[in-house]
Amino acid sequence: MTVHADSNLLTDNPALYEARFPDPDRLAGRWAEDRLRRHDAGPRVLDIGCGTGRDAAHLHRAGRTVTGADLSEAMLGHARAHHRGPSYLRADLHGFDLGRAAFDSVVCLDSSLLYCHTNDQLDGFLASCRHALTPGGLLVAEMRNGAYLLGRTDLLDTPKVDAFTWQGVNYRSATNLYVDHGAQLLRRIRVWTADDGTPPVEQHSAWRLLFPQELRHFLGAHGFEVLELHDGPGPRTQPPWREGDAPGVTADGDRLHLVARLTSTP
Ligand SMILES: C[S@@+](CC[C@H](N)C(=O)[O-])C[C@H]1O[C@@H](n2cnc3c(N)ncnc32)[C@H](O)[C@@H]1O
Repeated sequence: MTVHADSNLLTDNPALYEARFPDPDRLAGRWAEDRLRRHDAGPRVLDIGCGTGRDAAHLHRAGRTVTGADLSEAMLGHARAHHRGPSYLRADLHGFDLGRAAFDSVVCLDSSLLYCHTNDQLDGFLASCRHALTPGGLLVAEMRNGAYLLGRTDLLDTPKVDAFTWQGVNYRSATNLYVDHGAQLLRRIRVWTADDGTPPVEQHSAWRLLFPQELRHFLGAHGFEVLELHDGPGPRTQPPWREGDAPGVTADGDRLHLVARLTSTP
């Protein structure tokens, strides 16, 4: 068995990532565009942790001037080849400088924000967003909800097994999640097996467990006013968000949806 602490089979193989997590109706991109419109965002968008680029490209098609940024060169290469329109560049969401007031909004989808594991990384992310945004600019994010795990163990109790076929190879993944209480992380160990003769691979990753009130505090400290913070409907909720749905009022479900406005500049 090969153990990879930092690599991720899905983010290292963007085409496989899109096959595993299809979004044929571009629900995530449509949801983000709807939030931007609803809150009168200007045209310039930074999609940070943009992954394969499919949401960035949707925002581009909606008429926005989009920059997609990610740490993974594999993701960026895929985005440049398959989701043209935005410009793509490498940036670390823990701290980035793409120009002062260069954007009217920063979008951060599917828990990319939760790759800020420490408080310093969260501060770095929000300080970078503040630098990147024009006064009145928006931060739109969608992620797991740490509060969902308060009093619930359904995500932790049983290993999740998935099987799928991609390009003629049968893959199987067994995923175990556990809470690292001291670090406030949801840690994941996933073992991949494939029937193409390659040895099994064990991969480790983690998401920050962020709680709604904690997020409000971080945002306030960095000059943001929270406009929306709720558990859905959103692009990855059940039932999923549909055009015209009003934002929710609870923060109980397993996804958090955030819209915040930069009200003060450093
Ligand atoms: C779950 S994927 C989400 C991708 C995309 N936002 C989406 O919704 O499809 C998380 C992405 O965050 C990127 N990422 C992880 N850590 C990062 C960091 N420190 N800085 C920038 N991107 C990072 C990964 O490479 C990956 O593309």
